[in-house]
Parts: sequence; C-alpha cells; structure tokens
Amino acid sequence: MKIGVFDSGVGGLSVANAIKKSLPELEIEVREDKRHVPYGTRPPAEILGFIKPIFQRLVDEGCQVIVIACNTVSTNLMPELRRLFDVPLIAVEPMVKYAAKLTKSNVIVVCATPTTLASPRYRYLKGRYARSIQVLEPDCHDWAYMIQHNEIDERKIRDRLEASLSKNADVIVLGCTHYHWIEQQVKTIANGRAQVIQPEPVVVQQLRQLLAQLA
Ligand code: DGL
Repeated sequence: MKIGVFDSGVGGLSVANAIKKSLPELEIEVREDKRHVPYGTRPPAEILGFIKPIFQRLVDEGCQVIVIACNTVSTNLMPELRRLFDVPLIAVEPMVKYAAKLTKSNVIVVCATPTTLASPRYRYLKGRYARSIQVLEPDCHDWAYMIQHNEIDERKIRDRLEASLSKNADVIVLGCTHYHWIEQQVKTIANGRAQVIQPEPVVVQQLRQLLAQLA
C-alpha cells in the first residue's frame, strides 16, 4: 500500500523514517513544501492554499492514507482537510494530554510554532487536559527555520529551555516535527530533569490500526 507523509519541511522525514522502521512493507511518498517552509509563522488560510494541491497530488498518485506530519497544519486545518479529502488522514498534534499525565511537578513545556500555539485545537487540548497544570510555551518561532537550514544555534535552544526548566518543568513536549531532529540535544539539555516526548510512536500505532481496518 502507498501512503503519503506531508510536512512543510524536514519534520516529515523524521516521521517517515519512524514509519519505515516499523512498517517496512509500506510505500511512502514524502512531500515537503520547500517553497513555503516554515509554515509556523504564517496564517492558516495561507497554509491551506499551499497544501490543497499537494494533498490532491498525493491522492491522484494513489496514496490511500495521508499522514499529516505537521502540527501547524493539523492543529489549524483538520476540519477543512477532512471536508476536502476523502482519504483517511492521520495527524500529529502536541502531546498535552500525555504530558499532563506524566508530570509530577505540574509544570510542562510545550515547544511549538506560533501558529500551533495560537490554534483552536491547541487551545482545546490545554483547556481539556491541562487546566490545573502550568503550561510554559518558550519562544520557538525560529527553531523550524534553524533546523530546516541546518543552522542550529544550540545556545539559543539551551537558553530558552533552561528558562522553563528553572521553573520546575518536568516534561518537554516537542510540538513541531522539525524539533524531532534535535530530540537528543533537548534530552541532553534536560539532563534528567524532564522527560522529552514526541508523537512518532503514536503515529505508527494509529497507522497500524488503520491499515488493519483497511486490509
Ligand atoms: N514541522 C511543522 C510542525 O510540526 C512545521 C514547522 C514550520 O514549518 O514552521 O509544526
């Protein structure tokens, strides 16, 4: 079976690699929007205009499932995308619910793009699962750009995370798939003070379940 994996940029590759490792029998079409990356500082309506033709092409090429490996897209545009496309969609989103379950200090950090943090879905997740928890949202507006262009400023990332860790945060949510590429650096910075979580295992599990249903 052929599936599509979409992100604005290199975040999709990280998710596709995780899928490939667990489900090697799948044919995977990875699509990036190299012309418009990063998405995370753009308004949702503009992003929708970019992704409509890309999704349509994936469907036309015979992808039977599309994995939306982009939190910025999934937290803002899922209702529209479900209306527009008939194929099953699987999407990442910031793991606020799981982080709220894991935290002992009741302080969590969500690293995500500005457009994700401003989204209705993210607001819903916080209100539903983290009402009694302090959610810190460090300024990560330039992280996707840094990672996409391989210009990672470790000091900047460390400074922003340290500010949250010093407030007793014990879970760090990687709420942008680009940040999966710096997971190891984030873990090193956390140095045992916080768990670092990201959704690749969940995506693989959801995909496995969906494929079983489609078989
Ligand atoms: N990797 C995407 C996400 O998960 C988008 C990053 C960007 O293009 O700003 O949000």
